[in-house]
Amino acid sequence: MKKIYKLSEPYIDNKEIRNVVKVLKSGWLTSGPLTLKLEAQIRKKIKTKNVIAVNSATSGIFICLVAMGAKKGDEVITPSNTYISTINTIYNLGLKISLCDIELSTGNVNEAEFSKKITKKTKFFIPIHNGGNPLNLNKLVQIAKKNKIKIIDDAATAFGSKINNKYVGSFNDTVTVFSLHANKLVTSGEGGFITTNNNKLAKKIRILINSGLDKDTWNRKNTKNYRILNVGLPGYKFNFNDILSSIAIIQIKKIDKIIKYRKKLKDRYLKKLNSLITNRIIEIPSVSKTDISALYNFLILFKKINVRDKVAKFLQKKKIYSTIHYTPAHKHSFYKKKLNGSNLINTNYFFKNSLSLPFHNNLTLRDIDFITFQIKKFFNEKK
Ligand SMILES: Cc1ncc(COP(=O)(O)O)c(C=O)c1O
Repeated sequence: MKKIYKLSEPYIDNKEIRNVVKVLKSGWLTSGPLTLKLEAQIRKKIKTKNVIAVNSATSGIFICLVAMGAKKGDEVITPSNTYISTINTIYNLGLKISLCDIELSTGNVNEAEFSKKITKKTKFFIPIHNGGNPLNLNKLVQIAKKNKIKIIDDAATAFGSKINNKYVGSFNDTVTVFSLHANKLVTSGEGGFITTNNNKLAKKIRILINSGLDKDTWNRKNTKNYRILNVGLPGYKFNFNDILSSIAIIQIKKIDKIIKYRKKLKDRYLKKLNSLITNRIIEIPSVSKTDISALYNFLILFKKINVRDKVAKFLQKKKIYSTIHYTPAHKHSFYKKKLNGSNLINTNYFFKNSLSLPFHNNLTLRDIDFITFQIKKFFNEKK
């Protein structure tokens, strides 16, 4: 049977499996000791004061907007080139979606694109670190602060990314949201976590994700009046659970190893695709020299117009699967008439001409050689 080159694949071994069996036998399955252990582990890893585990990054972004006081009609600036669940969240909360463009060289929002969109009604900014490649966060924070705009840093794909040697998620003026979804570097199938150095905000988020109860089940069981519940805020049911925490705890321990191996895969891709890069047939988004990318994906940008879909089809015949990061918000049928994206030149360029190739920790260097050989074959290149 022909080998399948999947776009992404979880990196799981017996340690995760053993930990799941252990928790299933423990008698405690929902948020409890393992979720607390996971939060402490992440706090220590990225050096942030608070970590709150949630059932997805999408819920995390939702709850941050609620906790930070988003009101109907508030304007939220976000790139159209993002995962659609973020856009749905903004829409469902009755907030106004203001789409901004990205820069071509990185695929990220820059200062100019952000500034262009600011109005008196702008209250929030939700940028993403495209493919784990860090944003120019310090500059964006300066602009946001000057305009009294709160930043919810969507780092769904950027666990392990660093800006000037500081982990994304450890900065003072943002609240950051990460994903543990199945296609992320570290995963528990579904899940996410929020990080913030703001203790007051963390406390509020913790209550809001636990139905608004001032004590969750695990903490309540050790108190005198544990039978009586009390809701102080009308919260949501977005808490994480110990089954998934048992997987995430093992996964998080592997993050440095995972990124190190991905760097090897990326370098191999670059080496083998070098002729296409130097001949300006493709381009690779750049990462600032002072930053480290978690390397969520390996995305190529075709400089030759209208070739992307042909390459994708050609690769699929060889069982090499690829995708587009992302289908922009304004291209989805529900949002087509609601959001105008015709002026988002670079976003539309990415949508038409970018392709994310197989990229995960079960790929070998020989796999990359095969994939790149096929791409070069498409362009009639011999090596
Ligand atoms: C940029 C971005 N934001 C948010 C999400 C949503 O994450 P989750 O699936 O954990 O809700 C994703 C998932 O791929 C993403 O890529």
